[in-house]
Amino acid sequence: MAIAPTQSLPDSVPVLLRVTDLVIVTDTPSGEVTLVDGVSFEVRTGEVLCIVGESGSGKSLTMLAVMGLLPVGLRVTRGSIQWRGRELLGLRDRAMRGIRGKEIGMIFQDPMTSLNPLRRVGNQLAEAVRLHNKVDRKQALARVHALLRTVGVPQPETRARAYPHQWSGGMRQRAIIAMAMANDPDLLIADEPTTALDVTIQAQVMSTLEAAREELGSALVLITHDLGLAAENASRMLIMYSGRIVESGDVVEVFERPTHPYTQGLLASLLRDDSERAYAIPGNPPSPRNRPRGCAFEPRCAVARGQASCSEVRPMLTDRGNGVRSACHFASGPIPIAIGIRPSSAPSEEKV
Ligand SMILES: Nc1ncnc2c1ncn2[C@@H]1O[C@H](COP(=O)(O)OP(=O)(O)OP(=O)(O)O)[C@@H](O)[C@H]1O
Ligand code: SF4
Ligand SMILES: [Mg+2]
Repeated sequence: MAIAPTQSLPDSVPVLLRVTDLVIVTDTPSGEVTLVDGVSFEVRTGEVLCIVGESGSGKSLTMLAVMGLLPVGLRVTRGSIQWRGRELLGLRDRAMRGIRGKEIGMIFQDPMTSLNPLRRVGNQLAEAVRLHNKVDRKQALARVHALLRTVGVPQPETRARAYPHQWSGGMRQRAIIAMAMANDPDLLIADEPTTALDVTIQAQVMSTLEAAREELGSALVLITHDLGLAAENASRMLIMYSGRIVESGDVVEVFERPTHPYTQGLLASLLRDDSERAYAIPGNPPSPRNRPRGCAFEPRCAVARGQASCSEVRPMLTDRGNGVRSACHFASGPIPIAIGIRPSSAPSEEKV
């Protein structure tokens, strides 16, 4: 697996998106439940940031909050989301619509919800173009054809006249990428953009996305379970667990010197033991309704070994050097030893 050669961008590159101490909750009959708990990060112009973590860790909700598209029943109770220095939380719907789809594009996790099955693909894309640009239908369609060409759809003039069910899954996902890019967004958010696809076309679609992003110069937030995708495409990564960021830093640093036992477990799951079995972190993440009082990873953590601090005190994100931050009382050197996996320099291509 190739690790992205790019390094984190220098501080002089402008910050596009700054999320600070974001808390998202839902109300239940037994009270408020925190789903995203104090998440902070930033995205700079043109950078690729990856968000990794097991199912339910809060990846999608964090980015849906950025888009102002949290599901009904969920709300932000604390924090700030700044886009180019402008606070998005509390922004009127009309102002938010001017940013969403134009300055920030999103490829949603469920691809089936992105295209209306009853309308021709080209018309849907043209509508996305016309939403933010004063162009007539013909000009919008010309833009759609160019976009479809950019994302590798052959004969776009003909294909655009077809309905979504007449497109293959991989081609549909290309159309969804084209739709998110229709207005040259400065930031593209891609939530599991290849998960629904056949494994053989995942790499093609991902390289299409990366090529189109590079052409437009957009920044990208890539949400994925797949550490291989993170390694190949991102320069920085956030690792989320149970609604919080537990480790963040330059991809190369995190892959070579993971400091949080959860990150180490994820990386170990890319390795194979002598019998070619992949390691799996034991147990499951806690329900947000029932998080441990101290560290949320404690029930699964081999390093904790009954440490009172782990079960009692919630660890804060702390600098570990070289731009890496992690939330662990005992974050340190190469823990593959602590979880019983030998470190290896040659991880396989397996998914987490
Ligand atoms: N509409 C909702 N109402 C109540 N809880 C929700 C809702 N949407 C998500 N959650 C809960 O919020 C938590 C975070 O969900 P989120 O969808 O952000 O996870 P995720 O990291 O994107 O997971 P996945 O990898 O499965 O997509 C989960 O516990 C989830 O069950
Ligand atoms: S704080 Fe304790 S339980 Fe949490 S990850 Fe670190 S060692 Fe494990
Ligand atoms: Mg998700």
